[in-house]
Amino acid sequence: MLYLNHERVTARKPARCIRRIRLTARFAGEYLNRMIITPMVRNNICVTAHPVGCEHQVHAQIAYAKGHPVENGPKNTLVIGSSTGYGLASRIVAAYSAGAPTFGVFFERPGAEKRSGSAGWYNNRAFENAARRDGLAAFSINGDAFSDTVKDEVAELIRKSSKTVDMIVYSLAAPVRTDPETGITYRSVIKPIGSSFNARTLDPETRQIIDFHQDPATEEEIESTVKVMGGEDWQRWIEFLGKRGVLAPGTVTLAYSYIGPPFTGRIYRQGTIGMAKDHLERTAGVIDAMLKRSGGRAFVSVNKALVTRASAVIPVVPLYISILYKVMKSKGIHEDCIHQIVRLFRERLYANGDIPVDEEGRIRLDDLEMRPDVQAEIADSMEKISDDNLQDIADLDGYWKAFLRFHGFGIDGVDYSADVAP
Ligand SMILES: NC(=O)c1ccc[n+]([C@@H]2O[C@H](COP(=O)([O-])OP(=O)(O)OC[C@H]3O[C@@H](n4cnc5c(N)ncnc54)[C@H](O)[C@@H]3O)[C@@H](O)[C@H]2O)c1
Repeated sequence: MLYLNHERVTARKPARCIRRIRLTARFAGEYLNRMIITPMVRNNICVTAHPVGCEHQVHAQIAYAKGHPVENGPKNTLVIGSSTGYGLASRIVAAYSAGAPTFGVFFERPGAEKRSGSAGWYNNRAFENAARRDGLAAFSINGDAFSDTVKDEVAELIRKSSKTVDMIVYSLAAPVRTDPETGITYRSVIKPIGSSFNARTLDPETRQIIDFHQDPATEEEIESTVKVMGGEDWQRWIEFLGKRGVLAPGTVTLAYSYIGPPFTGRIYRQGTIGMAKDHLERTAGVIDAMLKRSGGRAFVSVNKALVTRASAVIPVVPLYISILYKVMKSKGIHEDCIHQIVRLFRERLYANGDIPVDEEGRIRLDDLEMRPDVQAEIADSMEKISDDNLQDIADLDGYWKAFLRFHGFGIDGVDYSADVAP
């Protein structure tokens, strides 16, 4: 309405007047478009996010990273999948612990007139504003990281600004990928392999244990999941940036993986997604051999299970995570994404000496999660869990709070009854 008026006026008024009217209209529009944003959760997916809450949780991560400096860290970092979860934490640590200019790639939904944007959209805005204020260069691209168009844009951005990058973090969790070579679109599925899988899981919203059944994946589904979540696109990124001459000598690249306990094995590590992670881990070897020629390295880091948008939709995982949180918190060893990534930079990648890896060459940040005493307590809890003792055995509040916090809700100091501009 205001914009319609503005169009009509601009046709008759001189230039200076037009600008004033346009600004007034924009301010009035923002004011009118304010709304109260509340969590809307469907099937473990929260479809709303709170801009102020997201900003708070980005600032909290920045404060933690600032308090944990990294000596001799990366000079220029590209994070692919930089807007939430492990990728966001990686970007924050590269920028605020190591002081590196950062490039971020993500696929997020901006806020619209009557609809909230996605958490990653608000996180990125908060990160960029903070980085700008703190004098740290930050460039972001919202687009499909699997496409060559986005790879091209990123290479061009790097060429025009820092000239090269010396760290690339690959932290995508995506449901679908179109192969730029063939134009074929692949979808990833989370299914067991060989036979069907029955298990108990948690509905975090109703806080009840529910039965879960999943039929096994077909060969085609396994292949599709590997196409989306395996290492093919990671390798393509590195080759693409190498050909464009924007990789510094000694470039380090990382992708994130997960192993987990036997309890989640059938649906995760021995399932379709596990096949993709196997492929990702094999690809690390291929990229490592490529980068070593110019003094670089490629690693997979096996991280801890944490509540993110990606993990919340994996069946059985919410139950496992809520018990894991209970056990790790009781032992004083619980960590969030930012703690994990600070440890990755300070105690693994940029510590003095060789980078510690397991017998498969992987960095292990799941060391505390997989500690025998932690896993023994979890196995014991899993044996005896029921609706009656769920509240005592699992950290249901902790799970739910982490899930809401991921979307900017339930954060101290945020007035959720106030109108905000989406
Ligand atoms: N969450 C866990 O418990 C856990 C544990 C260990 C390893 N990991 C691994 O860490 C990686 C990141 O997972 P997360 O849990 O942080 O996920 P997440 O959902 O929080 O983040 C995924 C990121 O990928 C981006 N993205 C998705 N599709 C995209 C596309 N087509 N183009 C550009 N960007 C796109 C999103 O915008 C977001 O920035 C994954 O490989 C995951 O398997 C996760």
